[in-house]
Amino acid sequence: MNIRICGVGSALPALTVTNDDLSKIMDTSDEWISTRTGIRTRHLATEETTTGLAVEAAKQAIKDAGTTPEEIELIIGASATPDNIVPSLACEVQREIGASNAVAFDVTAGCSGFLFAMSIAQAYIASGKCRNALLIGAEVLSKIMDWSDRSTCVLFGDGAGAAVVRGEENAMCYMTQGSDGARGSVLSCMNRPVNHPYHVQDSRHAFVHMEGQEVFKFAVRTVPIAIDRLLAEAKLTADDIDYFFLHQANLRILESVAKRLKQPMEKFPVNITECANTSAASVPILLTEYKKSGRLHEGDKIVLAGFGAGLTWGAALLTW
Ligand code: UT7
Repeated sequence: MNIRICGVGSALPALTVTNDDLSKIMDTSDEWISTRTGIRTRHLATEETTTGLAVEAAKQAIKDAGTTPEEIELIIGASATPDNIVPSLACEVQREIGASNAVAFDVTAGCSGFLFAMSIAQAYIASGKCRNALLIGAEVLSKIMDWSDRSTCVLFGDGAGAAVVRGEENAMCYMTQGSDGARGSVLSCMNRPVNHPYHVQDSRHAFVHMEGQEVFKFAVRTVPIAIDRLLAEAKLTADDIDYFFLHQANLRILESVAKRLKQPMEKFPVNITECANTSAASVPILLTEYKKSGRLHEGDKIVLAGFGAGLTWGAALLTW
């Protein structure tokens, strides 16, 4: 039994902030941001919350799948920026949508979170533990950005994407994941330090720290290897794939992967231009855009890939 995506949804905050807007509050420019990354605008939460965006995306995905919240038996939230430490994002969504028959929990795998959630759903479904799973990638990254650090805060945006996956006897599904904790310090955001009456420390909030070039090199090396591995397992070549839905971290990363796989950029959907890097949400947001605009057709062979903090990476080869 393999999984197939049968419904998708997404939600973005109302506020759109352009590169020019940012250049009015920090030492940056549209020219620097757009040429180095491809980003032109991003959505930033004002009233919206991670849970609120996730709930909107989840409702759309459930409707798109033609199912009901009661039929969802597993909810996995992928987020580095849930609203609470507990309860989890997945449990919050469960409450809001009334998915009372689901097991719900979160995974932490940075920008690979959605792909990790998908592999867990595959294992649950293949083992017969459940039939329908709801996967959510949702982030309000703006709350963990250091807005005085122009090298990172201009790169990220807020948003949520969701997918309903279902077990199907003859569906094609190959997946791979990997982690390299030894190199995790190149992209990090610390949690609260120990701080109580017996051990008082500096309790200032920590923000995202990224050594951009290190992460860039990691991404362009690792993603093509992960994709090649899936293609070999499936006995396919890159030419057989209709679309490569990659995590949107930098347009130049997408171009580099396309070049290494000897594939045209038309096969690499892009929305980093409008949404910037939405971490675990980027792949399902992109899938939703493509589905809604009629560019995905039943039977299309697609590759999904995420990479980022951990370091972690994950990829999937599926039929639409
Ligand atoms: O989603 C998780 C995965 N994340 C990624 O995959 C991110 C991967 N990395 C990248 O996308 C790129 O490395 C960045 C976009 C983050 C940076 O691009 P870069 O070409 O590696 O630039 P850089 O960090 O080497 O910075 C070049 C220059 C520096 O100035 P000097 O030292 O050359 O004078 C920076 O101070 O650009 C300067 N700079 C900026 N200038 C204007 C850094 N940020 C900005 C900025 N505006 N916002």
